Amino acid sequence: VLRPPRPSDVGALRASLRENVEHLRPWTPAAADGADPLSLTELARGVARARRDWTQDAQYTLLVTAREPDEPIVGRIALTVMRSAFQNAYVGYWVHADRQGQGLATEALGLAIELAFGPLGLHRLQAAIMPRNLASQRVVAHQGFRREGLAERYLQIAGRWEDHLLFALTLEEWERRRSRVG
Ligand SMILES: CC(C)(COP(=O)(O)OP(=O)(O)OC[C@H]1O[C@@H](n2cnc3c(N)ncnc32)[C@H](O)[C@@H]1OP(=O)(O)O)[C@@H](O)C(=O)NCCC(=O)NCCS
Repeated sequence: VLRPPRPSDVGALRASLRENVEHLRPWTPAAADGADPLSLTELARGVARARRDWTQDAQYTLLVTAREPDEPIVGRIALTVMRSAFQNAYVGYWVHADRQGQGLATEALGLAIELAFGPLGLHRLQAAIMPRNLASQRVVAHQGFRREGLAERYLQIAGRWEDHLLFALTLEEWERRRSRVG
């Protein structure tokens, strides 16, 4: 299930992120000196920001929860929107280390695509993935993203400017794919 974060999620989100520190570190921007991104204050700010960003059409953050009685947070996916002539969203996601390889990221991305090209009315989605992140490349491949090329020193990840492969999916490609599948 994908849903926006709520203020009451802060504790569970913190627990989930703490369990995944090592899993996420190689793929995440380093925290600013002295900052603790996992403090309750920072996480509460993050949830408030995420909820405000929804109302401002800036970023759509979705928690991925499992269909289990306590609805554990098993991942997160976010669409960062650029409107005007671009009508694009940058996609980012992670899935809990203990839930890898069950198709959760692929399923979550599929639902986020439906949100993007349906209610949000976007025209394009873009994902930037490090060449060594093979699992993430499989996820976008499953959803029909097309590889556009290599962007050199594109994002600063874990303290280093890293090359990224750019992948994209346009509305036209998604509709063609859907009519083939459906
Ligand atoms: C990338 C990530 C989101 C994948 O989540 P997931 O729920 O395990 O993804 P899925 O189960 O939907 O698909 C994973 C695919 O990668 C494959 N895979 C996993 N590890 C792999 C590896 N080391 N080498 C090659 N393929 C790998 C799986 O076999 C699967 O492909 P398949 O369906 O063709 O067999 C997860 O590993 C993660 O959170 N990584 C850390 C954060 C991250 O990298 N985020 C993305 C940044 S661009």
